[in-house]
Amino acid sequence: MSSDAPGHVPAHVPAELVRTFDFLNDPGVLADPWAAIDRLRGEAPVVYSPELGGYWIVTGADEVREAAQNWEVFSSNPVTVPPVTDKWPRPLNPEELDGDEHTRYRRLLTPLFSPRAIRPLADSVRERATELVKAYAAGQGGDFVSQVAKPLPSWVFLGIFGAPREQADVFTGWVADLLHSTDPDVNAAAGQQLVGYLMETIAKRQAEPADDMISALTQMEVDGRPLNDEELLDICFLLFIAGMDTITNQLGVITAHLAARPELQRTLRADQGKIDEVLEELLRVNPIVAPGRHVTRDFVLGGAPLKAGDTVMLANMGAGRDPKAFDDPLEAKVGREASWTSAFGLGPHRCLGMHLARQELRIVLELMATLAPEYRLAPGAHWNYVTAGNVWGLDRLDLEFAGS
Ligand code: HEM
Repeated sequence: MSSDAPGHVPAHVPAELVRTFDFLNDPGVLADPWAAIDRLRGEAPVVYSPELGGYWIVTGADEVREAAQNWEVFSSNPVTVPPVTDKWPRPLNPEELDGDEHTRYRRLLTPLFSPRAIRPLADSVRERATELVKAYAAGQGGDFVSQVAKPLPSWVFLGIFGAPREQADVFTGWVADLLHSTDPDVNAAAGQQLVGYLMETIAKRQAEPADDMISALTQMEVDGRPLNDEELLDICFLLFIAGMDTITNQLGVITAHLAARPELQRTLRADQGKIDEVLEELLRVNPIVAPGRHVTRDFVLGGAPLKAGDTVMLANMGAGRDPKAFDDPLEAKVGREASWTSAFGLGPHRCLGMHLARQELRIVLELMATLAPEYRLAPGAHWNYVTAGNVWGLDRLDLEFAGS
C-alpha cells in the first residue's frame, strides 16, 4: 500500500498512518478486499485513508474489539462508511442508536431472534434448502449465489417477517436497488416502494394481527405505550435490510472458501459432528461486515490519535484474521484450542439475527456435504465483490462438481 495518498489529510493524522484505501472503487482493493485488509493490518492496526471523505480503518483484533465495545466514544450513528444520511430520515433502529436508547429497543427485539424462537424453524429451512441444493446438484452446479445463496435466506426471512414469499423477487429487487445501486434515483425509488409496502402492511397487522414478526412488533410496548407508527416503520425497515441480504453474502463467501479447500469439504462429509466447528472457523476467517462508527471525543486507539467527529470503519474481517490473535489465521481448521469470530460484531450491537444466520448456514453446509458431490471453482469462474452498507459479498459464484 502506498502512503502518498491524494485527498485531504486532517492535521491531527500522523503522516505515517496515512494509506490510500477506497474499498468502493479501487480495483486493487476490489480484486480481494479481505487480502487488502490483511495488508493494511500488516502495517498498523489503525490507519487513516483520505478516500471516501476520510476515515480511519481499524483492522487489528484488539482494536476492533475495543472500539466495538466502547459505544460512548464510538457512536453507531451513522453506521455506514462513507456516512450515508439520506437513505433514511432517522437513525436506523436499533442499529444506529447508542446507549440506553439502543438498549430500550434492542430488548424488545431480542426474544424474536432468540434460539428458542429460531430453533423451531429448522425443519422448514431444511426442507426448502434440500429442494434448492438438490436442484443445484442435479443441474451440475453453475452460479451458487443465484441458485442457493439468494433464494434461501429471502424465503426464510419473508416467512418469519410476514411478507409474501411468492413475491421474493420483488423484495430482493428492492433491497438490491436500495443497497447495491450507486444511482441515488434508483435508491430513492426502491426505498419509497419498500416504505410504502411496510406502512401498508403494518397498518393491516395493527387492525388484524397474524402469526408473524410484524404483528408481534405491533403488540410491543416501550415506556408503557405501544410502539408508534414511526418506531414500527424504522424497526421493520432495518430488519428488512439487515435480514434479506446478509446471509446470501455470507453463504457466497464461505462457499467460495470451501470450493478452494477440498480437504475441508472432506472433513464435513466424513464427520457431520464437525459442521459447527468448521462453520465457526469459516466465520472467523470470512467476516463480511465492516460497520462504521462516529468518534464522539478525542481518543487514542491502537496508537492512532482519533479526534471527535472522525469517521471509523471497524473491519471485522481484519479481526479474526489477525496473526496476533490466531496462529495460521487464514486457515479454517478443526481442533483450534480457542476460537471466536467477529463476523456478527463484538459489542452491544452484536447481530440479533445471528442464531437465524448460523442455523441457515449450518444447514446449507450439511446439505452441500451430503447431497452434492465435492465442488470446486468452475474454470474461469469470476465474480465481482459487491458492497452494500458496509456488507461485502460476491455477485456470483460458479462452481463445478468433481468428476463433471
Ligand atoms: C450471516 C449473516 C449476518 C451477518 C454476518 C450479520 C452481521 C451483523 C453485524 C456484524 C452486526 C453488528 C453491526 C455493528 O456492529 O454495527 C449486525 C447487527 C444486526 N443484525 Fe445482523 N448479520 C447477519 C444476519 C442478520 C439477519 C438475518 C438479521 C435479521 C433477520 C440481522 C439483524 C441484525 C440487526 C437487527 C442488527 C442490529 C443489532 C443492534 O444494533 O443491536 N442480521 N449484524
